[in-house]
Amino acid sequence: MQADSPVIHEILRLKKERNAIILAHNYQIAEVQDIADLTGDSLELSRAAASMEGDVIVFCGVDFMAETAAILSPEKTVLLPAADACCPMAEMITAAELRLVKTRYPDAAVVCYVNTTAEVKAESDICCTSSNAVNVVNSLDEDQVIFVPDRNLARYVARFTKKEILPWEGFCIVHDQITPEHVRNAQKRHPKAKVLVHPECRPEVIDLADHVASTSGIIRHVCTSQETTFIVGTEVGILHRIKKECEKKNCYPLSDAAVCRNMKKTGLSTVRDALRTLRPRITVPEDVGQQARCAIDRMLAL
Ligand code: 13P
Ligand code: SF4
Repeated sequence: MQADSPVIHEILRLKKERNAIILAHNYQIAEVQDIADLTGDSLELSRAAASMEGDVIVFCGVDFMAETAAILSPEKTVLLPAADACCPMAEMITAAELRLVKTRYPDAAVVCYVNTTAEVKAESDICCTSSNAVNVVNSLDEDQVIFVPDRNLARYVARFTKKEILPWEGFCIVHDQITPEHVRNAQKRHPKAKVLVHPECRPEVIDLADHVASTSGIIRHVCTSQETTFIVGTEVGILHRIKKECEKKNCYPLSDAAVCRNMKKTGLSTVRDALRTLRPRITVPEDVGQQARCAIDRMLAL
């Protein structure tokens, strides 16, 4: 897409008129990342949603991210350009299921990954993202922790804490399909490459990695490392930002099939339409939003 294309012009004009900011996750398509005010991981985008000036937030990501922005900035109009962009992992646990688990473990703290619905956040003590999950768990007074919904992130956290972690058996359909065989095949193709993976990957994949981090953590690692060649074990959209920010490094996807279809539903025309119509708007009922905000604020305060 050319920088002088009519759709980009219209987005920039509408953005000014609406006093809007555009936030994009690292997995968004290249054109969307390029028109965003900020491209980042879940934690960076949550912080931006809470602190950036503007009347409208156009959230180029999936539904739980826009919901988190709406919870943190209820006075702003939060738009999710692709109305059906969801996270299947966030739908793997409901608030009713979590309430039931809590009755079984009344002394446990509840940590919810940010990839959850507002209702599940409202039932949780504290939220976490992939970049702060270990710190969040270790900050708690309780010795027992119900960790929802990602079993892989839960098991990753368990490696770095003395607390008893009770994982919910949810998973990311993109990261969970990456296998040790993918790692070994990629290493055969690029024997000198360091292997970087996201903590949503299975434990047996994490065992083979040189470094484990959130999406922005992976980008920072590539840019600051002395190494020059990397195999990147997360969603392929991240490669665009890596190429832009560290052009001298060579990065190869661990699996070409690691594509989150929901993250790819947002395009320039959907962003333009959202700014034109101020739809689809994401709102959270006030009582749920206030409860969920406690869990998110507690994380952001750390
Ligand atoms: P982070 O960008 O926070 O690492 O999260 C990855 C992810 O899967 C978001 O849905
Ligand atoms: Fe959800 Fe996985 Fe897609 Fe992230 S990559 S939005 S966790 S399905």
